[in-house]
Amino acid sequence: MAEVVVVESEARAGELAAGSILDLIAAKPDAVLGLATGSTPLPVYRALAEGVRSRGIDVSSLRGFALDEYVGLPAGHPESYRSVIAREVVQPLGLDPHRIHVPNGALETISDAGEQYELAIERAGGVDVQILGIGTDGHIGFNEPGSSFASATRVKTLTAQTRRDNARFFDSPDDVPMHCITQGLGTILRARHLLLLAFGGGKADAVASAVEGPISASSPGTAIQLHPHATVIVDEAAAGRLQNLDYYRYAWNNKPRWQGL
Ligand code: PGA
Repeated sequence: MAEVVVVESEARAGELAAGSILDLIAAKPDAVLGLATGSTPLPVYRALAEGVRSRGIDVSSLRGFALDEYVGLPAGHPESYRSVIAREVVQPLGLDPHRIHVPNGALETISDAGEQYELAIERAGGVDVQILGIGTDGHIGFNEPGSSFASATRVKTLTAQTRRDNARFFDSPDDVPMHCITQGLGTILRARHLLLLAFGGGKADAVASAVEGPISASSPGTAIQLHPHATVIVDEAAAGRLQNLDYYRYAWNNKPRWQGL
């Protein structure tokens, strides 16, 4: 079962996740982070940047792999995930950009971009901690409903719902790319620790399904139930549809602190 932690604010969620990641980096300076984009992980990146500064942690060896990328956006497009990761993660944390990888969404090389990305993750020794958001349609990464639990990094077609959800980042909904390249559910499940965050009532159904629903490719977030070390950090609104909420609170309140996340 995933550990579910309900927090009072997005900032608190960011601190909690960042605290666990900073402990990992302190113990393993060349740790490999799995980096999500979207709005959800921003409090984590803010808290990480703050923690790196205040604790004086050396991040020069830290490595990272983004979860996904749009296909076919012009190089340097501000909403390409390569640009977003540079802006939200690499610059604020002071990471070495050469150690941070993003799937290559360029059309010219797209046919083997997934395989190349899988090889790069494997050569790095795998992802230590994978930060995840969840889509309102239940996707993790851009693994839309129906994605195989064994899937590797590959091209997917975004659902109309995901394109609507992401239209806020573009001038017009039509500008949201139709295709993406995303780590597969199989790729995500190979990460050693999953840290899934969700905020707001709009995510409540997706969270309830991922944590407590029947395991099904129709609900890609349910893949986390197959992972031996998955942590779900949610605010009250995103926790609103969980059946076993009392138990999650009880377990968290009685958790030995030395265990960490
Ligand atoms: P969001 O997206 O963090 O911007 O809500 C989450 C996702 O689509 O996985």
